[in-house]
Amino acid sequence: MHFVVTIENTGETFRCGEEDNVLQAMEQLQRRGIPVGCRNGGCGVCKVQVSEGSYTKRKMSRAVISADEEASGCVLACKIYPQSDLRVEVVGKMARAIVAKKSMSFDFGFATATAINQPDEEK
Ligand code: FES
Repeated sequence: MHFVVTIENTGETFRCGEEDNVLQAMEQLQRRGIPVGCRNGGCGVCKVQVSEGSYTKRKMSRAVISADEEASGCVLACKIYPQSDLRVEVVGKMARAIVAKKSMSFDFGFATATAINQPDEEK
């Protein structure tokens, strides 16, 4: 059975099977909304806050996820398996980079429009 995972930071969605961890499913579909690190629950780079949905989880390093965090739905995307559609927010060390990358793509679009206008100004 497959479920839909929504990344709130970017609005991206992707399908994830109940046998696949969320990070693995995202990578298989060549999406990049959640930062990828060790892929094994040890670095904390893929930390997300689950705001909706249910999941099963595997062992996560206490060095990167406290028991309180885990109980409140702050988990590692590489260690959770959806049991329903999920909504997650990236909250790990790289969360700012995700937001910055999204802003950069907007800036790039603006710069491209400016470059297109330049030849007209020379005439
Ligand atoms: S990628 Fe390192 S903890 Fe998930």
